[in-house]
Amino acid sequence: MIKPEVVQQIQQRIDIIDVLGDFIKLKKRGTNYLGLCPFHGERTPSFTVSPVKEIYKCFGCGKSGNTITFLMEHEKFSYVEALKWLAKRYGIEIEEEFVTDEAREQYQQAESLYVVNKFAQTFYAQQLLETEEGINIAKSYLLERGFTNDLIQQFQVGYCPTSGNAFATAALAQQFSKDILLKTGMVVERNGSLVDNYRGRIIFPVTGVNGKVIGFGARVIGKADKAPKYINTPENEVYVKSKILYGLFQARQAIDKADECLLVEGYTDVTALHGAGIENAVASGGTSLTVDQLRLIKKYTDNLTIVYDGDAAGVKAALRGLGMALEERLNVRLVLIPDNEDPDSYVKKLGKEAFQQFIQTHKKDIILFQLEVLLKEAGNDLVKRNEVVNQVAESISKLSQAEDFTKMQGYVKQSAVLLKVEESDLLNLVNKIKRATAQKEQKKPTPAPDTLADITADTPETEVLSFLQENEPQQRNIIRLLLEHGQEPWGDNAKVADYIFMELDDFALESETLDAIYLKYRELHSQHLQPDTRHFLYNEGPEVAKLVSDITVFVHEVSKGWEQLMPTKDDAKQAQLQQDVVSSVHLYRLRMIKKFMKQTFVEIEQEQDEKSLNEKLLLYTELKKLERESTQILGSVIVK
Ligand code: GTP
Ligand code: MN
Repeated sequence: MIKPEVVQQIQQRIDIIDVLGDFIKLKKRGTNYLGLCPFHGERTPSFTVSPVKEIYKCFGCGKSGNTITFLMEHEKFSYVEALKWLAKRYGIEIEEEFVTDEAREQYQQAESLYVVNKFAQTFYAQQLLETEEGINIAKSYLLERGFTNDLIQQFQVGYCPTSGNAFATAALAQQFSKDILLKTGMVVERNGSLVDNYRGRIIFPVTGVNGKVIGFGARVIGKADKAPKYINTPENEVYVKSKILYGLFQARQAIDKADECLLVEGYTDVTALHGAGIENAVASGGTSLTVDQLRLIKKYTDNLTIVYDGDAAGVKAALRGLGMALEERLNVRLVLIPDNEDPDSYVKKLGKEAFQQFIQTHKKDIILFQLEVLLKEAGNDLVKRNEVVNQVAESISKLSQAEDFTKMQGYVKQSAVLLKVEESDLLNLVNKIKRATAQKEQKKPTPAPDTLADITADTPETEVLSFLQENEPQQRNIIRLLLEHGQEPWGDNAKVADYIFMELDDFALESETLDAIYLKYRELHSQHLQPDTRHFLYNEGPEVAKLVSDITVFVHEVSKGWEQLMPTKDDAKQAQLQQDVVSSVHLYRLRMIKKFMKQTFVEIEQEQDEKSLNEKLLLYTELKKLERESTQILGSVIVK
């Protein structure tokens, strides 16, 4: 047992945001942090963490607890394991009090798969790096394929000797039980004795998100003529194929930082990209994507870029997961690697910069890509073309959640052009499919009446409508503030632009051109390029130049007049600017929130499916909260 004073010491050190942040992407919202609940699939974050109270609560599924219960639930740790994990993290030494045989036995049972895997990984690595056979046969092959020592180290690559039972013998000598060894798939039973299953193969350890080895991919050296190219660990308690993304442990920080995850097919695609300095890549292992894998990605980013071979199989594989990915609210883009290359060979051919450039310039939105592929297949066949319209409408209908409404409209617009149909017809079709899907899933259509009444009561339709019309000027104002004041200080160590981006991150500007300027500014700003009006007047094309001059020239005159009327001191100007920024940002935020509320309200009225209805009610409540926040802030800024 762990001594009580050590438990106390651990509890004092716990930083809930730091620990939970390992597993969930958390965003600061006021004094709390908000993220997507890891315990149920959700699209709007309702998982709230309070650093002050050291607790979390999900308003969607109701799960709540503290850091330790989180680890127990999420990582399937026992109480003691959770404490040990935390102790290790915070460098606290655990002196265990007397352990009973029974307890030890139990603990070993639970951990044995991890332990055996760890042992095996070390064994295979030693075989690769320290034996003559390993160095001559396996390591030389890896080096030839562009692996460096560093890369081998990072991915803990190993080798299983050809001798027949080297691993089995070593493992049995360590007292690992036969049953456990068989369960790992590393050995098989032949004539009553154990022999190695991965003889003569390169070993790629597969780790869970926490870095523990959960299984292996074993590749033949050279061409695979007779045997399968890879042998993978069979499903067991720790190796669950549908929940694995190869390389995620090594890639997760890079994914978070780049706010993008590259998804490739093979082990060596991941390692090669990593070796080239492109570290945000993971592999699905050649099978089609699962919801669990998508959710795993979603913890770190909303932006998934699938990078597959350009052959027909690659295209099909990429499109197979499309519906699911859309339902998980991922922005999915696709890049096909040309000329029978794969990401591994292609990055070696082009080098890091050119490869990245290629990805950036060849990224295709996956819905539009699907449309293109289908249209090409259909040719001039009218029946088939009609079918394409249906399929595309089906994909778009998956975006129907309120938060994606603007996005959906964008797709309808673009697709209608490509399909040569009326935008309104396509939109009708999309809505029809939506309704049909809802009806199909329908179980109990009756919503909780009091909640619905609540909502009806506080949605003054006319007020919302008139508010919605005042639109473009607000957005122009935000762009003006960015262009003219974005690089000025905000607080002690931020800039005005940082504040604007923080508050408006979830709300795209509705005007496409203005949003393009917004995004471009953000891109330049994130690269510390200090964008300003000049940049947009000269570098972004005539349309942008005209708009920018409209926006800024007009305001310039006004503010000049203002200054002449009452020359202000720097402090006062600063305060004025601050007020201007806060009110502009929150007015727009409020408008968007109200708009979403209205949409959600309409959807709630039509929703047939109870589960979706509850989600929408929750979304509505969440929006209501945001609305209150913004209203309060506006109240304190505008009313002097
Ligand atoms: P290299 O040929 O070394 O570049 O390997 P790769 O990892 O790029 O493999 P490839 O592109 O041929 O296949 C992609 C992925 O599909 C692999 O990483 C494996 O996960 C899986 N795969 C390929 N061949 C086999 C096989 O024979 N058996 C199993 N189970 N999986 C395989
Ligand atoms: Mn390959």
